[in-house]
Amino acid sequence: MMSVPSLPSSQASLEVEFPSLCLPERNCEAWTRAADALTFPNYHDLNAWNAFRRASVNLALRHLPEHFAEALEEFFTPTGIPALMFENLPVDPELPPVPTDGTRPRNKQAVSEAVICGLVGTHGEILSYLNEKSGAPIQEVAPIQGMERIQSNAGRVQFGFHSDNAFLPRRFRQNGILLYGLSNRDAATLVLTAGQIIEAAPADLAASLAKPIYRHACPASFSLPGSAALSAPCPILWRDELGLARVSAASSSIEPLTPEATEALNRFRELLMSLEPARVVVRPGTALLFKDDRVLHGRDSFAGSRWLQRAYFTDSLDPLRRATRSDPNAFAFDAGALLCA
Ligand SMILES: [Fe+2]
Repeated sequence: MMSVPSLPSSQASLEVEFPSLCLPERNCEAWTRAADALTFPNYHDLNAWNAFRRASVNLALRHLPEHFAEALEEFFTPTGIPALMFENLPVDPELPPVPTDGTRPRNKQAVSEAVICGLVGTHGEILSYLNEKSGAPIQEVAPIQGMERIQSNAGRVQFGFHSDNAFLPRRFRQNGILLYGLSNRDAATLVLTAGQIIEAAPADLAASLAKPIYRHACPASFSLPGSAALSAPCPILWRDELGLARVSAASSSIEPLTPEATEALNRFRELLMSLEPARVVVRPGTALLFKDDRVLHGRDSFAGSRWLQRAYFTDSLDPLRRATRSDPNAFAFDAGALLCA
């Protein structure tokens, strides 16, 4: 088993091909007031959760400027841009202290959650896995006491380039991730596009990485009982039927299945270290959306406070509901059952 690459040490940033739009102040103020009137539901009550989602989408449609809506539509099309950033979005007026146990503070207002649900819900569906953060649809990303040195969303250490949940079959994995800033002075999220990687890869390396000769392990943030969960053999870097570059690399470890895979994985690691990622500080009121298999993401180490919220999204939950025989309104699924489906 080989671990995924660590990050390059350079702190220089790079302009990558994704837009960043800043919400006008008057939209932010009006959206904040309206979202503050909502109450975050008990998400185990699927009717209450759906009502909150619908209300949040209505607010987003009312307060998003037209060019924001167009950017979202472009992002959510299958051939659309791999990443998108919005700034100056609403944040809860009275934010509680950063949680240290990985769970949502009970007294938190519902402003950021309403914006997250609104942004995603215009074109997609939020999903979660029961084996991670208790299946919460919107998850707190903040250091957890005792886990600071683990490469996961609960840690403080440098987190190498990866995709989330690469161990799951592609049809059951999130299409994308939204990160929303609540508190963050300078901890950067790093983004490398699959296009950057594939263009920089020598032809023989790209050919080896496109072969299904790698298995991805379950990440540290999941609790799956029994033996180590591994993906079926799959490629790391490839072009899809539309010619789009795609990449998938587990955060925990990747098992090469052949000598060719071992060599290619080593070269892949070196290649990533030679490339310059975008460094995005997801500050309060910033939403960073990216397609999970169109980029790799990582994180610089950090010392100060950092509290982001995270939501996974996809275009349809029907395949996951069918595979797990879940409630027709379910959004949280058992990763163990999906691995066996
Ligand atoms: Fe991640």
